[in-house]
This record gives sequence, C-alpha cells and structure tokens, in this order.
Amino acid sequence: MCGIVGVVGNAQATEILLTGLEKLEYRGYDSAGIYVQANQGVDHLRKSVGKIANLRQQITAEDQGTCGIGHTRWATHGKATQANAHPHYSQDRRFYLVHNGVLTNYTQLRQKYLKQVNFVSDTDTEVAVQLVAYLVDQEHLTTFAAFKKMVQLVEGSYAFALIDQQNPNRIFIAKNKSPLLVGLGKDCNLISSDAMALLDQTQEFLEIKDGEIGIIKAQKVQLQDVQGQEVTRESYQVKMDPQAISKGTYDSYMLKEIDEQPAVLRRIVQKYFSDDRIQIDSELLHELAQADRIYIVAAGTSYHAGLVGKNLLEQLAQIPVEVELASEFGYHLPQLSKHPFFIFLSQSGETADSRQALVQIKDLHYPILTLTNVPNSTLAREADYTLLLHAGPEIAVASTKAYTAQIAVQVILAQALSQEKELTPSKPLAVQQQLGLAANAMQSLVDAKEEIQALVQKYFSKQETVFFIGRGNGYAVALEAALKLKEVSYIHAEGFAAGELKHGTIALIEEQTPVVAFILEGQTAAHTRGNIREVVSRGAQAIVVSQRQFSQKGDQIIFANLDERINALAAIVPMQLLAYYAALERGNDVDQPRNLAKSVTVE
Ligand code: F6R
Repeated sequence: MCGIVGVVGNAQATEILLTGLEKLEYRGYDSAGIYVQANQGVDHLRKSVGKIANLRQQITAEDQGTCGIGHTRWATHGKATQANAHPHYSQDRRFYLVHNGVLTNYTQLRQKYLKQVNFVSDTDTEVAVQLVAYLVDQEHLTTFAAFKKMVQLVEGSYAFALIDQQNPNRIFIAKNKSPLLVGLGKDCNLISSDAMALLDQTQEFLEIKDGEIGIIKAQKVQLQDVQGQEVTRESYQVKMDPQAISKGTYDSYMLKEIDEQPAVLRRIVQKYFSDDRIQIDSELLHELAQADRIYIVAAGTSYHAGLVGKNLLEQLAQIPVEVELASEFGYHLPQLSKHPFFIFLSQSGETADSRQALVQIKDLHYPILTLTNVPNSTLAREADYTLLLHAGPEIAVASTKAYTAQIAVQVILAQALSQEKELTPSKPLAVQQQLGLAANAMQSLVDAKEEIQALVQKYFSKQETVFFIGRGNGYAVALEAALKLKEVSYIHAEGFAAGELKHGTIALIEEQTPVVAFILEGQTAAHTRGNIREVVSRGAQAIVVSQRQFSQKGDQIIFANLDERINALAAIVPMQLLAYYAALERGNDVDQPRNLAKSVTVE
C-alpha cells in the first residue's frame, strides 16, 4: 500500500504529482504530500491528512516547480497525522524522501546512527532520510553513495524516491519488494508505483527490479543492479483506454464495476475461446496435467475465488486442490505433494503476502501460474505462466468484477485441463455456453437493483450483525458476501458453512438477526433449508439466494438456471449490491472504505 509518484523536467510538476496521486489513492488515503523544486532552488513541501482533495486545497499558485515527488499513505507506523505524512525530510531540510513499504530494522538504525537527531514523525521512513543526511555529513559521501549505503543498511520492503535540494533536477530511486517503475516522457521522466497513474503523461515504461537503484533525470535514466553494474533494459508499452479508469456516469467505481460484470464475462469468453476451442498455452496445460496436486495461494476476496476454483478443478480436472491463505502459507509450508503445481490468484498482482509465498515456491523450483488482472505486475512477471483476468482496471477498493473474473478463468482452466488429460466427465460442462448464460443472469440481477435496495432498507438499516450461510460453493460465496458487507458497510458479518452454525454460532441469533442463505446445489438443498428453519425458529429473518423458488418464510432472490458448478458467478452479484447499498445507507465512502487500501503491499 501507499503510492508514490515523481517527475523531473516538467514545469507542470505539481499538477502531474497531484493527478498521479489521485490515481494512486486506491493504494491508501490516510494522508498525502508533495515536495516540488523549482529550477532556481526554491522548493515547496505540502502535506495534509486524508485524501488528495485535502492536499489540493493547500496548494497555492506559488507551489510550482519542474521536479518533485509525491506520496499517498496507508499508515503502518504512526497515526494518520500531518507529521507522519510523506515526504519526510532530513533535520537540515536538504533531503526529501517518499517511501512505500516497511523497514523492519529502523529502530536499530536509529539507535546506531541517529541518536543525535530530532525526529519529527513516528514513521520508519524518517530514519531512511535522516540516515542519508547523516552519511553525507559524517562520512562525506556523495548523495548517490549515501543513498546507496542507506539502501544497503535498511531491511524490509521499499520503493524510495529521494530529492537532494543541493543537487536539483534528479530523483534518486531504489526498489525492493514494493512496486516502482519509470515512465519515459517527452523531455521529462517520471516514476510511479503503478503505470495507471502516469498514462496521461506517457505509455512507455521501464521496469525496475528488486535490488536496483538509480538516478532519474529529465533526459536520462541511470540504473544499477545490486553489484553496482549498469543496467540497460528495453522499455515496454502500456496501452489502456482512459475510459476504463474513469467513473463515467456513475457516482462510484464500485457500482460501475458491479455493473460491468456481464461484459467482463463475455470478454473473458472472447479472449479464451477461438472457434469454440479454449486457447490456453499448451505448455502450461501439459505441466499442469503432470501435477499430482494443485495449491491455490491467495488473500481476501481472491482466496474466496480460489475456494470456488478448487471445486471446479477437482470436479472437472479430477485433481486434488488445496487452497491456502498466502499470509499463512509462506510461513507454515505444508507437507507438499511430490509434483505440486502452484496457482497464485491476485487481482493486483502486487499483494505482499502472496509475493513472499511465490518467492519461496520459486526457490523450490516448482511451476507457478499467476491469474491476475494486471499485466506486468510483480506476480505476473515472477511466475512461469500468467493468465489474465481481462476485467479492466478495478479501482474501487472492494473487489467485485475481479472476483467473478477469477472464477470464470478458473472454470475455463479446469475445462482445458480436463481436455488435456482426455477425461470424459460423467457430467460434462458446456463452459462457453454456461458463461454466456451466467453473463445474462448477472445482467438480470444488476438490472434489479431496486429489489436489493429495498431488502437493505427492510433488513439492514438497524442491524449490526448479519450471517451468511451456504454449503459447497454456497459456503465459498457466503464468505465472500460477508467480507463485502463488512468492508464497505462496516456491519459485522460472518460467513459460515450452513451446517456449522448449530455447533456454536447459533447462540448469537437473536430476534430480527438477518441470515442470508445460499442454496446453490441440489444435494444439500434440503439440509440448508433445515438450517434456515433452525435460525428462523430462533427469531432470525432469512433471505434465500437460489435459482429455485422455495416455500420458505422470508424473502428470496432468485436467479436464472445455470449449471450449479458455476452458479457462484451469479449468486455473489446481489450480495455485492447489498453491500453497496448498505454502505450508501450509512453514508460511507463506498469506493474507499476506512482503514483499507486496494493493493496490500505490506505483509
Ligand atoms: C476485498 C479485497 C481484498 C483483496 C486482497 C487480495 O474486497 O479486495 O480482500 O482480494 O487484498 O488482493 P489481490 O487480489 O490484489 O492479491
């Protein structure tokens, strides 16, 4: 989390930084700041708590320059205050630095080198900038040498950008584990955590790898690797329709992205099918077919999509699958099978928990596939294979269309693997046709928004706890529905396997507690209906989500008939809308809920 941006060689530096930060706001919005330097050595530092809009209000006509750095923060060390906002500066106000990441040894470095320094913030980052000043003063190093030594001394993750007031028109950069790339502009160069923030300036980018360090000037980019060898690298183009990152006629990205899901499903079918045949790298399928077990590793919503993926891969491709939480997996590696294959699911392709697990698996030389929405993202680059989600940029912090896209791509992958293994399933799945039907079902659901809005008013206005229950894919959807509701509405919500409630949690059911039940499979429908009766007889209000009408007390959301192996795709849509309207009802910021960030780049 946190986003950084920088520009050198452009008289519009202030506006470029602010616009870039607005596009990076999804990475954190606790505070923001910029440092801009004019050619004459005049400089400006502006910081504010909260969103970029607050920072903008502080900018005056004088705050102009040609070189600058900016930062939007998701707090890790120290509260969201002005003092803790980046850029941080050295005591002598010569060096200014922005940082995305976490420094794990900052207290030791402070003890060892910086006892005499008066710190003005509680952050780990301030140690880095004070250390550069210390090394220049005490060890008489050049700025680049001091910056390089600081980078060697710190431990943890970082994307750094530093400006030296006495060496204008250049930005010193370094990267380890946190994203950073260079944008090659016309007569100017830029840096950012995400290409999306710079697309109005350039479409040409240069990758920076972990351990690299460099100096960015208006006409030149100098990079060095860990050994100090000069790095030369081909640039790459990022082409993105600017419309894809605009809200269009919507008030929020979240609603836009929920509504986009039918189109995303159709796009996925177009991308992965040609003449009714699945188009997936044959080498990938061959390697997958050799595996004796697949491990799906992911976090949050992507983990929930992985739970549905497990069922699909096991049913269609007849291969055992484990779904692992990335944050647990990396540090508690299970006993792996003989020929494992790893699938990383990540919308952003930048999640630090997933990345640290991926690095470990890479060291063990096992094959890795990343399913991601972001081409050239870290997890895409570092895997052996990548399958793209083609969902278009997902900007709302709460993931919606990436979740359904992850399920859709996993269905296609499972089917392709089944074909690769020449299996003859007892119950074949017409994937292309079913995904088309799922897109239609989603469309009907997003078109019936008023019904969901009415349910929110009826059941969720005053409730502080909601339970979601289901079996099989219904359980996976219950977990995701609860997460969606929690993160945007701040209502306490829990997802449970329907049969588990009676083993303890049923004690929490009170008069009027809403319980949403997913009945998504025939074989357990009767049992789940029994579980609904159990909670209703204890005062709960039940809402059933299913493709069949049941004579049951309470409201029911019905969607069109789909093969039950893929009906999670439709069942989640009304739940995303439910979370959206509950958040709206409570006056919350639906796109940027409190305490969260879109891309979680710290462990
Ligand atoms: C919730 C949400 C998060 C992410 C999680 C993993 O709506 O978006 O739970 O799913 O942080 O992120 P990615 O998929 O980018 O690895």
